[in-house]
Amino acid sequence: MRVLIFGGNGGIGHSLCKQLLNHSPEIELHATYRANKRNDLSDDIIWHNVDITSEDKISELAAQFSSIDWIINAIGLLHTPSNGPEKNLQSCQSEFFLENIKVNALPTLLIAKHFSACLKASSHPRFVTISAKVGSIEDNGLGGWYSYRSSKAALNMLIKNISIEWSRRMPKACILSVHPGTTDTPLSKPFQANVPDGKLFTPDKVASDILHIIEKADPEITGSFLSYDGQTLPW
Ligand SMILES: NC(=O)c1ccc[n+]([C@@H]2O[C@H](COP(=O)([O-])OP(=O)(O)OC[C@H]3O[C@@H](n4cnc5c(N)ncnc54)[C@H](OP(=O)(O)O)[C@@H]3O)[C@@H](O)[C@H]2O)c1
Repeated sequence: MRVLIFGGNGGIGHSLCKQLLNHSPEIELHATYRANKRNDLSDDIIWHNVDITSEDKISELAAQFSSIDWIINAIGLLHTPSNGPEKNLQSCQSEFFLENIKVNALPTLLIAKHFSACLKASSHPRFVTISAKVGSIEDNGLGGWYSYRSSKAALNMLIKNISIEWSRRMPKACILSVHPGTTDTPLSKPFQANVPDGKLFTPDKVASDILHIIEKADPEITGSFLSYDGQTLPW
C-alpha cells in the first residue's frame, strides 16, 4: 500500500506517519515537509520538500507517482508569529485572511486536481483532509476566528464538490473532511487554557482515530464531514 501524508512533520501528521509504520510495516510511506523534516523516522519515510501553496510544485510531486492508495492532508494554519485568530472585525487583516485560504483550503483543491489520476489507479482510493469543527457554518454559535473559520468552511465546500465530481469519475473513491478534536500540537498551544478536562487529545490518539475512520471508509460515505469519533458533523 502506498500512502502520502501532506505535512508529515506536523503534530498530527507525524503521529499519522508513526502509526501507519507501526501497524503496516510493509507500507510505502511518503510525506511532505516545508522547512524541516523530522529525523526520527527518516529511514522509513520517503520525504518530499514541497511548497503546498504552489500549483507547479504539487504538479511536479504528482508526476513522481503512478498510483497512490491513500492521501491525507494534515497541513493547517491557525496563527503565525505576527497574527492569530481574530476576536472581532476590527482585527481582521486581508493578508492574514488570504494566508489562511492559501494554506487551509487551496492545497486540497490542488492536490485533488493533480493527484486524481494517481488515486484513480488504486483499487481503494481515499483522500482525507483534516478540517475543523469551527469551519461548520451551522455549528457556529460563538463567532470570531474569521479567517480560520472561513478557510475551513471553504475547505469543506471543496471536499463536498470534489466528492460529487469523483463519484462520477472515480466511483471507488472516498473523500472525507475530518475534525480531529482539540489536539495538543503547536497549532492549538496558545488556545488550550479553556479546554475541558479530557478534551485535549494527544496527537497519537487523534492519528489512531483518523486511521480508524479511513480504514472503515467506503464510497457510500464520500463527501462527509466527520468528527474524530466517526459522528457526522453539520456543514
Ligand atoms: N490541533 C488542534 O487542536 C486542531 C483542531 C482542529 C483542527 N486541526 C487541524 O489539524 C491539522 C493539523 O494541525 P496540527 O494540530 O497537527 O498542527 P501543527 O502541529 O502546527 O502542524 C501543522 C502542519 O501544517 C504545516 N504548515 C503550516 N503552515 C504552512 C505553510 N504555510 N506551508 C506549508 N505547510 C504549512 C506545518 O508545517 P511546518 O512544520 O513547516 O510549519 C505542519 O506540518 C490542521 O489542518 C489543523 O487546522 C487541529
